[in-house]
Amino acid sequence: MPRRRSPVDTTGTFFLLDQLQPPLDWAAFFGNDGPVEVEVGPGKGVYLAFAGAEQPGSNFVGVELARKYAGLAAQRVVKAGLGNVRVVAGDAQKFLDEFVPERSIAVLHVYFPDPWWKKRHRKRRVVNERFVDRASKVVKVGGELRLMTDVEEYFRESVDLITAHPGFEPIDESRVEAGDAWQIQTNFANKFRVEGRPFFGERYRVLAGVEA
Ligand SMILES: C[S@@+](CC[C@H](N)C(=O)[O-])C[C@H]1O[C@@H](n2cnc3c(N)ncnc32)[C@H](O)[C@@H]1O
Repeated sequence: MPRRRSPVDTTGTFFLLDQLQPPLDWAAFFGNDGPVEVEVGPGKGVYLAFAGAEQPGSNFVGVELARKYAGLAAQRVVKAGLGNVRVVAGDAQKFLDEFVPERSIAVLHVYFPDPWWKKRHRKRRVVNERFVDRASKVVKVGGELRLMTDVEEYFRESVDLITAHPGFEPIDESRVEAGDAWQIQTNFANKFRVEGRPFFGERYRVLAGVEA
């Protein structure tokens, strides 16, 4: 008879957005005052688990729309024994708008967001004007917005939106184009690396003077 795997208990790691009380108190949410990094759309949580292990002094929260993936990400984190990572199932824009206090996070990560190829679906893209403006407010001054995608056209559009906003300056002298200077670990990055597909990334510093 096939052996049943015992379910992983994700209590304390996995949350539904609707169960949380806005605005979040990060010290209470994580049980410490460490810096907080937010990942939008973590999928199955490869980056969250990697980063949580690499930076034990930081806290990470991934906000994932697909509940199934959010659950898988939380299981990965629990199996890795990481107490500094949380996963929230819900919409990232709502999370940033209503739950994340202004000037409260160190880094906002967006890796391989869904491209929504068809023109009539473009408005569903995570990186849009509203997102960029909210990013400029929730990230602390001196903190970072990091973006990576395999879709060059999405990348260029995102760069244009961010460049047009007064709240950011690029960190990297030249953009990471058709390459992978960060050696980033995400499910999609690892897949594309094996396939030899190029991807594009940029890091921005959040500037003072654009107050909410
Ligand atoms: C292409 S996958 C990339 C996953 C992961 N970042 C990686 O690099 O492997 C994009 C993910 O973003 C999630 N997503 C799309 N829109 C979202 C939103 N508004 N809020 C949170 N997650 C979202 C999708 O459900 C999906 O898991």
